[in-house]
Parts: sequence; structure tokens; C-alpha cells
Amino acid sequence: MSAAAIERVHEVPALRARIAAWRAGGLRVGFVPTMGNLHAGHLALVDLARRHADRVVASVFVNPTQFGPGEDYARYPRTLDADATALAARGCDLLYAPTLEAMYPGGSAGTVEVRVPALDDVLCGASRPGHFRGVATVVAKLLNQVQPDVAVFGEKDWQQLLVVRALVRGLDLPVEIVPGPTVREPDGLAMSSRNQYLSPDERRRARAIHDALVRVAGAVRSGGDPLAAERAGASALESAGFTVDYVAVRSADDLGPPVRGRPRIVLIAARLGATRLIDNLLIDQ
Ligand code: PAJ
Repeated sequence: MSAAAIERVHEVPALRARIAAWRAGGLRVGFVPTMGNLHAGHLALVDLARRHADRVVASVFVNPTQFGPGEDYARYPRTLDADATALAARGCDLLYAPTLEAMYPGGSAGTVEVRVPALDDVLCGASRPGHFRGVATVVAKLLNQVQPDVAVFGEKDWQQLLVVRALVRGLDLPVEIVPGPTVREPDGLAMSSRNQYLSPDERRRARAIHDALVRVAGAVRSGGDPLAAERAGASALESAGFTVDYVAVRSADDLGPPVRGRPRIVLIAARLGATRLIDNLLIDQ
């Protein structure tokens, strides 16, 4: 069975016209921002958006401002036709794939930036300077362009989810942010467009991230010292061939030091060869 083709728009005026027509009909709009190369994790967010809205818009835009020098912007997989097919099959109503010029008219000369200082330079922000400024800026722009009632973000990128919540609060954006649970491969590896960079051997070893998350979370949950648990997690990852960026037990809501009695989370970022993978697990459900 072939799904009907999904409508695609590439410019803000065409996007606004489509959404205005829905709004005139009293419909609720849900939004799923992505960088494309869609996998089951992204598509689960489309399903979730559908449960909160009458119409669902997905965006595909590989955002240059959130990649650092030497990162994978140039080789990030761009698969727009396959993404459109997958979105159509999932019942997504509109694909917004802005051009670079539509998103950043005039290039860097006319730049406006959005920052969430409290979350900007910890964990992934420390190892990827400027990354969350790029994310916050593009998400603020996308939310203003689409003006959805609800927008869905994956828990896989926990720090990003907190940045988005903070920018929505800080800029008083009238949108509800709904978190989507992390979708995993059968061995526990979180689905990611970057998994395809892994060689077969690296792919076999990549499950060590989820294994470490489970072990660290278990140790802390049963009263173990968070610092000792972090160290054990890091050395397990090193044994599996990873270069560890961080294994961190934190407060889930602000990434501050963990406090018993408040929700805690363990977060990992680690490199296998040239591929940087991140994942996390809530300790207190
Ligand atoms: P991207 O990596 O394409 O992810 C798009 C959305 O899918 C994000 O909300 C992300 O958290 C979610 N996601 C990715 N893998 C997932 C998984 N295995 N399970 C559940 N959700 C998953 O994140 C970005 O793009 C960009 O930073 C973006 C927000 C679009 C701004 O450019």
C-alpha cells in the first residue's frame, strides 16, 4: 500500500498560509521539529503529536548554527524524499523543510541569537560550545514560524528538552511542550541518525552505553554513592572502547547536583571512534 504524498513547503509564507487555513477551521496544530533522516524515534514523536492535535507539522532542517567547527554538519545524512514518504505513511499532514535562506535570511550578517545561560555550558554545552545557542535560536524561530499549540521533543536529548522548556518559559511562547520517551534498538541503544556512522564492530559495542546507564541508575537508586557510580560507569565504557565525555548523575529538572527526594537522572556522552553518542535514564520514576 502506498501512502498519499505529503504536502511540502519550503518558505515561511507558504507555511503560514497552510496553518492559517487550519486555524480558521478551529483545528489544533502539533509540531515535531527534526533534522531529518527520520527513524522510529522521530516517528513515535509524530504519533504523540497526533494524540495532542488535529493536524501535525514536521520540520526537517539540518541547522548549521548548532554544529561546531569540525563536527558532522557537512556529512549529516540528508534524506528528504525518504523522510517525506515515512511522514506520509505515519499520517503527518505537512512537511516544512525550510531552505537555509528562509531560516537565516542574509546569512550570519543579520543574526539574532537566543541563549539559555543556565544550561548553556554544562554537560553537552561544555563539550560543544555554542551548540545550545544554535538549538535555542532555531527552535525559537521554528516555534514562531509554525506557532503550534503543542510541540513534541524527545527525552533522548534531555538537556535539549530542558533548554526548550526554559526558552518557552523565558520568551512566554504560547506552546505546550510534550516530552516523548526514548525509542531504543532491541539491545538498548537509543535510536539516532548518528548510529549509522558506526562500523559493525562499533555497533556491537555501542550497547555498553545503555548497559552503563542501567547499572549507574540501579546503584544510585539503591543508595550507592553517585560519584562512585559515575566512575564505575565511565570505566565500563572505556573497557568497551569508548572515549568518555561524561557520565553524570544530576537533578533531572535543572541538571544541578543530585538531591535525594527530587527526580534524578544519569546522562552519558561518549565517543566510539569519530561518533559521539548521548543517552540518559531517569533514576527515580
Ligand atoms: P533530531 O536529532 O533530528 O531530533 C529530532 C527530535 O527527535 C528531537 O526532539 C529528539 O530528541 C528526538 N529523538 C531523536 N532520537 C530519538 C529517540 N531515539 N527516541 C525518541 N526521540 C528521539 O534534536 C534535533 O534534531 C535538533 O536539535 C532540533 C530540535 C530539530 C533543532 O535543530
